[in-house]
Amino acid sequence: MGDFDGKRILVTGATSGIGAATAEAFCRAGCAELIVVGRREDLLQEKAKAWSDKYGCDVAAVVLDVGSRPDIEGITVDHPNLFDVDILVNNAGLALGRDPLQEGELDDWEAMVQTNVMGLLYMTRAVVPHMLQKGSGHIVNLGSVAGRWTYPGGGVYAATKAAVVKLTEGLRMDLLGKNIRVTNIEPGMVETEFSLVRHKGDAAKAKAVYADTRPLRPEDVADTILWACSRPPHVNVQELVLYPTDQAHVGQVHRAPN
Ligand SMILES: NC(=O)c1ccc[n+]([C@@H]2O[C@H](COP(=O)([O-])OP(=O)(O)OC[C@H]3O[C@@H](n4cnc5c(N)ncnc54)[C@H](OP(=O)(O)O)[C@@H]3O)[C@@H](O)[C@H]2O)c1
Repeated sequence: MGDFDGKRILVTGATSGIGAATAEAFCRAGCAELIVVGRREDLLQEKAKAWSDKYGCDVAAVVLDVGSRPDIEGITVDHPNLFDVDILVNNAGLALGRDPLQEGELDDWEAMVQTNVMGLLYMTRAVVPHMLQKGSGHIVNLGSVAGRWTYPGGGVYAATKAAVVKLTEGLRMDLLGKNIRVTNIEPGMVETEFSLVRHKGDAAKAKAVYADTRPLRPEDVADTILWACSRPPHVNVQELVLYPTDQAHVGQVHRAPN
């Protein structure tokens, strides 16, 4: 009997990076039913089909902007059991821009807060009543080392990830005694589409972020998430900081050109 046999798992932001690696890892580990969420419909459908074909897992693709309250409320009315899951991975998130605060783009700020903070809250609020009814569940939030230590031009993104620290702590307190676990996974540098999104499609700038160093791979974070979710039921991994060996702090990266 595997750790995820019979489990229904929902991963947000599953079209790329950490979310895609985590969704695939849950399928590989034998979860019964996986719901994957993202905004890029074709990519989401394609990945869901590939995982389902490869691992025989029942994978449902749900196109959803986690930061849209009307979309989440609408889908809850149409599919009342959609959010009845055993594990929620609140992974969807993004950074936009590296401008100093005094020059920041308001649209960027709003997108980061709406997705990284409000999206996490909306999704959590949608699943928790089902978990309470069942008397079990696990919510895994994707924070970041930026939630603990900020860097120039990263203040707003860091603030959204600092909010994840507090929301994880607060949820743990509010759910104490209800047998629902809450975990904050806080990675350092992971090579995904994250920097391409942050630099708005500028591939050269995105590539420079990972140049001459060994960042984490999305699969490393997925492994960590599955490890946290497969601890015995009396163990709650509350927060976990995961750096690549070549990074000691948000702004301190060892680079060695080949
Ligand atoms: N990469 C890093 O160095 C790093 C470090 C620490 C923490 N993190 C965190 O890890 C999480 C995953 O990031 P990643 O590195 O894997 O980046 P990524 O490759 O850009 O993946 C982000 C995912 O989030 C989805 N997403 C973004 N906004 C969304 C929205 N409003 N609604 C639904 N889905 C949305 C994207 O899909 P669509 O575009 O299809 O919607 C994509 O699947 C984020 O929370 C990020 O802050 C990343």
